[in-house]
Amino acid sequence: MQGEKKDIRPAEKAKRNSIKLNYTVYSTLVIIKNMSLKYNLLKDPKETKTIFVPCFSESLNSKSFDKSYSFVGFKISNKVSSYGFKGTFMEKLTILAAGKDNDIDIVFIGLGKRKDLDYEKVFKAFSSITYNETQKKYTDEAITIIYPDNFSKKFIETSLDGINNGHYVFDKYKSKKSNIADKTINLVLNKVGKSLFNKIIKKSLEKFQGVNLTKDLVNEQPLVLTPEALANVAKNIGKFSNITCKVYDKKEILKRKMLGLWDVGKGSSNLPRFIHLKYKSKTFSKSSKKIALIGKGVTYDSGGLSLKPADYMVTMKMDMAGAGCVLGVFEALGRLQPKNLEVHGLIPSVENMPGPNAYKPDDIVKGLSGKTIEVINTDAEGRVILSDAIEYANRLKVDQMIDLATLTGACMIALGNYTAGLFSNDNKLTEALLRSSKEAGEKLWQLPLDEELRTEIDSNIADIKNAGSTRYGGAITAAMFIQFFVKDIPWSHLDIAGPAYIERKRNWTAPGATGYGVRTLLNYLKV
Ligand code: BES
Ligand code: MN
Ligand code: ZN
Repeated sequence: MQGEKKDIRPAEKAKRNSIKLNYTVYSTLVIIKNMSLKYNLLKDPKETKTIFVPCFSESLNSKSFDKSYSFVGFKISNKVSSYGFKGTFMEKLTILAAGKDNDIDIVFIGLGKRKDLDYEKVFKAFSSITYNETQKKYTDEAITIIYPDNFSKKFIETSLDGINNGHYVFDKYKSKKSNIADKTINLVLNKVGKSLFNKIIKKSLEKFQGVNLTKDLVNEQPLVLTPEALANVAKNIGKFSNITCKVYDKKEILKRKMLGLWDVGKGSSNLPRFIHLKYKSKTFSKSSKKIALIGKGVTYDSGGLSLKPADYMVTMKMDMAGAGCVLGVFEALGRLQPKNLEVHGLIPSVENMPGPNAYKPDDIVKGLSGKTIEVINTDAEGRVILSDAIEYANRLKVDQMIDLATLTGACMIALGNYTAGLFSNDNKLTEALLRSSKEAGEKLWQLPLDEELRTEIDSNIADIKNAGSTRYGGAITAAMFIQFFVKDIPWSHLDIAGPAYIERKRNWTAPGATGYGVRTLLNYLKV
């Protein structure tokens, strides 16, 4: 097994990210391993065995198109059109051309019409380049990508995020590893200078140390990724300068009366943890905002005594994707060290299990806020642990709080697998988050907090119930449950149950964890 592990990162960094767990078979949780991309800036294409050409549909017949590919030795526009290639979005055509020393594959990738281009399309098209390389039996060490003319700086940045995103696989448990070799990416970018290039390359690579951490954590099996293991990852992130990390275990959780977290988690032999990360830049102006990012960290959601049916239980290792996202953001903050920022990362983490000590339907839970929760369904556990984290954020007196949670199947019924739901008590925060998600190419859609549905979670015996009596509007009643604990502070809730984990095979990104939310939040924080 030893010889198979290849880590090209400096030894010191590799060590920082290896976490020892108590299992001998799966002894280490090695994370952040796929960043073996090196970039070169070129003004003219260099001969590599594969050249990728993302192109707009309307530029295929232009003179400048033929001119830029004069190196192939034939009129490229004729060739491309003879194959019926139109350049529609994600359409692909591979042409074999003769190079000096060997044949060259020129792969055209349609971007659609220039006027219809957006960040999501750029991200997907460029991600497909490196993703498809990981799927090949043999790939070459270097590839070249020729950019279309007049690609804006922001689109170039997004394209780099795409390239880094595609270069990811989770093959830790496969005997036969994927082809994810070290790779040199030559980028032909005529109007970009060296220093700008280096800056945006570095930023995207650091950002993806965060995104890949999120993906690795969400993909990890629940035997390995327990609340304790998640807390160890956070402690490791706490080693960055300007980041501190506090972890509360059983004793402190009980002492602090975080009983929402405790009651949900006490049914498992893997006991709960509460994680408090804090990033504060050295330069911090008075006008800078204090922001809390709160992530649901259910490392396994069996449903508890309200047990999930078998078909619904599989994939529930991903129920800590909100927490994974917060950790990914902190990994990136630690590396990028943005100025004028104070961010608190709050993660309540449990394993939701049935057992002799498990919390029960009919129990009344009184958490940190002192408000009482009637348990209707132990499978509505996320909102119960989040209520403690929200109250914790209230007491920190933050200016804004954003929670991320794989909270409801209902949100997936409403919006499908690819879009997260946004709920908020504040219009400015809503607008900013929608804008940030658009620029990340991560789909987010606002849903209402509907006062008429509020009676669904009124309780006869306690202050609130943890589940409504009907399934209708389930994502909304869940959000309103969380809102009940928010004290007059701008707050947004992102229900990421759909987009955090996508099992379906897609031709541009690895199936499983997506890292959803990390780039949206980094945009929001203006990192
Ligand atoms: N973690 C689930 C929500 C979920 C479902 C996430 C599918 C990702 C994919 C959550 O804890 C849950 O079980 N929610 C219940 C709530 C219900 C019992 C009120 C649900 O959505 O069915
Ligand atoms: Mn559940
Ligand atoms: Zn859950």
